Amino acid sequence: MPARRDLLFPLLLLGGLALSRAGAQALGLLLPQDRGPRELDVSAYPPEIREGYRVFAHKCSKCHTLARPLNTTMRADFWARYVGEMMQRPASNIGETDARAIYAFLAYDQTHRKDADPGRFFPPLTDEQIELLLAERGRR
Ligand code: HEC
Repeated sequence: MPARRDLLFPLLLLGGLALSRAGAQALGLLLPQDRGPRELDVSAYPPEIREGYRVFAHKCSKCHTLARPLNTTMRADFWARYVGEMMQRPASNIGETDARAIYAFLAYDQTHRKDADPGRFFPPLTDEQIELLLAERGRR
């Protein structure tokens, strides 16, 4: 998969630039996708993708549950941007090897599971939607 590997680097940099959104302020905020399933049976996935899931389950459940990424659908290549973004958050503790393994899982899962039935999943929220959720929470 040399092509995908070459693509990951610039996308990781791009992710860093996209950091300006709600960011850490949104910690503890419940998004619609958080209410979906929090784990996935990956027993039918190829071994290297199962390994990616293991890293993903460990690293991507620190600030929100796995429900958030598992129930979000987006174009497979956009996941690289997301992993890059999450990688740069303080305390995420996601190194480059982890990021590659996580991205491999997310891209595979997107094309094999989510793209087959997109209506079951949520598109990522826009900055405006996140601001709105934060404001609503502030009023409660
Ligand atoms: C350091 C804390 C932290 C870690 C670690 C983390 N996230 Fe997040 N994540 C957040 C916060 C906070 C949000 C809320 C939206 C925002 O600020 O962009 C979020 C939102 C998301 C969203 C929804 C975005 C949207 O717009 O609907 C997805 C998908 C996601 N994270 C995936 C991941 C993946 C995949 C990983 C592992 C690579 C991960 N997260 C690790 C903090 C984290």
